Amino acid sequence: TPPFLLCAGLAYLIGSIPFGLLISHLGGAGDIRKIGSGNIGATNVLRTGRKGLAAATLLLDALKGALAVLMVQLLLDADLQTGMAIAGVSVVIGHCFPVWLKFRGGKGVATGLGVFFALCWPVGIACCIVWLAVAKLSRISSAGALAAFAVAPFLMPPLSEQPLHSPLPIATLILTLIILLRHTSNIRRLILGRESRINIDPPPQK
Ligand code: G3P
Repeated sequence: TPPFLLCAGLAYLIGSIPFGLLISHLGGAGDIRKIGSGNIGATNVLRTGRKGLAAATLLLDALKGALAVLMVQLLLDADLQTGMAIAGVSVVIGHCFPVWLKFRGGKGVATGLGVFFALCWPVGIACCIVWLAVAKLSRISSAGALAAFAVAPFLMPPLSEQPLHSPLPIATLILTLIILLRHTSNIRRLILGRESRINIDPPPQK
């Protein structure tokens, strides 16, 4: 197998593990696809009120993104950046379109952030700060995600010290486009002012 194809295939398989679905099942929170936005990501797990399960989903989804990129360093000895870029895009595609769930997966935010950490950690840190700040101020998870991925293509070239047409900036641009496409329903709700807010308070007692 050509090494780049191997990287892409393995990264896709790693990305296709639906941690949000597995963790909420195992944690007794039921099928996450039947509540809230129906998404399998940490934001929707949080809507069950199970903060621990949501945090575990966020962490594992991000970790698989980072691991898929770092794995390339064991598989390739040349063209490392191209391999990392391919793996980074593939792992997010695996998360968003997993074969196991009839290609109906998540939105790629946590996994994409994990990829940024592995491609160039300062970009990962900067995007996380933007994501958390916007999500906290707006109390809307998707707004934070969209802001973080909107700035990423501008941050990657200077922070990775790579020209625009090189693998890491190109992969970043592709990831931003994927995240944008996966958030079309969120964007529609944001425009209509109907996007759901993060509710960290316990439900009101009767
Ligand atoms: O992580 C995805 C987030 O940006 C939006 O999730 O469930 O509100 O569509 P959700």
